[in-house]
Amino acid sequence: MVNSNSDLTNRVFAIIYRNWRDALWHSFGVEDLQKKQRMKCSVLTNPFLLIKDYLYRILKEVSRVASEINRDLKDSEPLFLSVLNGSFMFAADLMKNIEIPCEISFVKLASYCGDSSTGKVKELVGLNEDITGRTVVIVEDIVDTGLTMERLIETLKARNPKEIRIATLLVKPDKLQVDLKIDYVAMNIPNDFIVGYGLDYDGKGRNYRDIYTVVSE
Ligand code: IMP
Repeated sequence: MVNSNSDLTNRVFAIIYRNWRDALWHSFGVEDLQKKQRMKCSVLTNPFLLIKDYLYRILKEVSRVASEINRDLKDSEPLFLSVLNGSFMFAADLMKNIEIPCEISFVKLASYCGDSSTGKVKELVGLNEDITGRTVVIVEDIVDTGLTMERLIETLKARNPKEIRIATLLVKPDKLQVDLKIDYVAMNIPNDFIVGYGLDYDGKGRNYRDIYTVVSE
């Protein structure tokens, strides 16, 4: 009897905690990034501190992007091209919300070292589909300077698609160096270097389910 009472109490506390935590996620957005709690990260140890972002906001915005694509491309049978490695989490959550006939394929581009864009792009690897006359939706993790995306579009255009659209999880509008029409954006963010939810810092941090900003300690 005592045990079942304490089980019940534990369960009630678990529910209260979950609701409280969800409500908290609700109230934060990327705009608040700088104000958020600072926390040390076990993978990316010194000299970095990470500021935590909130999963709730990410999934909400990803599902909004999916709704826009469902609405705009319902008669196009698009081919989604997920650019690996960074877009794998975004692509997975996005595709779970895509309800129109479509295909998805995965391509690879340049590697990215350290915390600034090199501007160099390796060749496009892994595109086996014939995209002639097709609507292609590029699924990217982040548009920073936009140079990577500009070159990818040039490469794809040479294969004569009907149209190319861009869906990206993140954009740093103040860093953009090229004139890009970005059709679908989950979140605009400041000029911080981001890890988590697929994005890495020298290969680390991709597995975090939230987004973090790397800051100097
Ligand atoms: P861009 O050519 O400057 O737009 O850079 C695009 C690529 O750089 C992205 O696909 C990422 O791989 C990488 N990148 C840019 N900013 C970040 C960041 O804040 N975190 C992790 N990777 C980034």
